[in-house]
Amino acid sequence: MTMAEYLRYIRGLTGTKIVCAEGDCGACSVLVSRIHNDQLSPYQSINACIAKMYLYEGCHILTVEGLGKAMDLHPVQEVFVDEQGAQCGYCTPGFICAMAGLAEDLKIKNQKPCAQKVKNYLTGNLCRCTGYEPIIQAGLKLDLENTPSLKDLYRDEDILADYKKEKPISIKITGPDQEIFLPKTIDEALAYKTHEVKMISGATDLGVVTNKGKLKLNKTLSLNNIENLYQVEKSDHFYTIGAKVNLTELEKKLSSDFPEFARLLHIFASPQIKNAATLVGNLVNASPIADTIPFLMVSGAKVRLQSQKGLREVEIKSFFKGGYKELDLRDDEIVTAVIIPRTQDEYKLYKVSVRKDLDISVVTFAAGYKLQNNQFESLRLALGGVGPIVITPKKLEQNALGKNLGPKLFQYLAQEVEHEITPMTDHRGSDQFRYQLARNLMIKFGDEILKELNPSQFEASI
Ligand SMILES: Cc1cc2nc3c(=O)[nH]c(=O)nc-3n(C[C@H](O)[C@H](O)[C@H](O)COP(=O)(O)OP(=O)(O)OC[C@H]3O[C@@H](n4cnc5c(N)ncnc54)[C@H](O)[C@@H]3O)c2cc1C
Ligand code: FES
Ligand code: FES
Repeated sequence: MTMAEYLRYIRGLTGTKIVCAEGDCGACSVLVSRIHNDQLSPYQSINACIAKMYLYEGCHILTVEGLGKAMDLHPVQEVFVDEQGAQCGYCTPGFICAMAGLAEDLKIKNQKPCAQKVKNYLTGNLCRCTGYEPIIQAGLKLDLENTPSLKDLYRDEDILADYKKEKPISIKITGPDQEIFLPKTIDEALAYKTHEVKMISGATDLGVVTNKGKLKLNKTLSLNNIENLYQVEKSDHFYTIGAKVNLTELEKKLSSDFPEFARLLHIFASPQIKNAATLVGNLVNASPIADTIPFLMVSGAKVRLQSQKGLREVEIKSFFKGGYKELDLRDDEIVTAVIIPRTQDEYKLYKVSVRKDLDISVVTFAAGYKLQNNQFESLRLALGGVGPIVITPKKLEQNALGKNLGPKLFQYLAQEVEHEITPMTDHRGSDQFRYQLARNLMIKFGDEILKELNPSQFEASI
């Protein structure tokens, strides 16, 4: 059962709506706090329509009904009424929950609302009547000083006392044709994993395909109750990102060392999706237009695979075997982490989508490089959406070394890139459009580097 179905049909909490049922409109937004090391994490909004209920075992879930009552509105609800942002019964509860998530985040960071922050936070909420203006006004009028923290609405001590009584243990849910296992330890998870078991993480991919009836999950394994997989470890040479780290947390943790990747994550989906989705899920879903894979390719990242036979660490490039969604991942293996080296490399990452926000890419581009004496000392390139997997054009990388930086070099690379890619036509764009985008992104990459270096100093040598 999805969380939205549980809330509406079992608990009668019909403020949470089910409209698109694919994480795209935000009408089902609720707020969730997960307990880590006996503490409640800050409440974050998620899409209940694609969230599997069992993935939120042991969490505190706050629905629109839990924020305020008819005669005792929450300040976010009040400001929506005052500014006439409460427009229809479908979208408004989701907007209120998302905005309460914004208020909480701003309070934690001691920041004030501004139009950009309000818009960013509401990326995942669709108003079908296009009445966005009063909604944004409501966000701008948030009186944070008189808005209680969500943690003060329900006493942490009471929640934690409840939680301790029910503290997560290894859980197996068995139905007539389904089994779901949420072990407490990695050893139990590895003992359970066979070819018929499907891993599930944030369910932002799997929740959509199961809602659409395109996949039935018979035996499912979740690492949700394994505490150490929620950690990002930073050492002198690496970041190790646990399988359960969500993309919001990842954006925060990597922003100082990898600002360009954090910028890309900023325009990934919506806050509701990023609060549930994981890096591992994006990697193993293995879409050629997945936003994180080009960066992982050019940063020299590795994937950590564990089975009862032991542990392997595989370069992301060889994790992809060449065919569409063909991975070096054995039936008894689980991905437990992604390891990203901390190098002196610089990065440029681009995503072209039909819409800037909450849209899947048409073509993606990543470059990781070091410059010395007006030349590339090293260069790694990756392009997505132009073949069955993310393409790494080895020949171009080699040919670019030893040449002086200048417009001619990048024109040459733009001209040659079309021999390295095999785009196809689909509803997001034609093959010719994708060829053009690949060429244009190569020129854009060059322009940005040359601009940073002061182009007048550089002469092309080819
Ligand atoms: C509205 C919407 C917008 C989106 N926008 C974007 C976007 O902008 N860019 C983008 O790239 N994607 C986007 N996505 C796709 C999706 O959010 C991402 O791919 C996300 O990272 C998937 O992570 P997850 O944790 O939800 O994975 P899940 O759905 O739980 O799983 C995805 C795959 O990974 C496998 N898996 C999960 N964990 C493990 C593990 N530990 N070991 C082995 N296999 C595992 C699962 O079996 C499954 O095949 C969007 C999705 C939606 C619904
Ligand atoms: S119903 Fe549209 S996002 Fe959930
Ligand atoms: S608020 Fe629902 S259509 Fe605009």
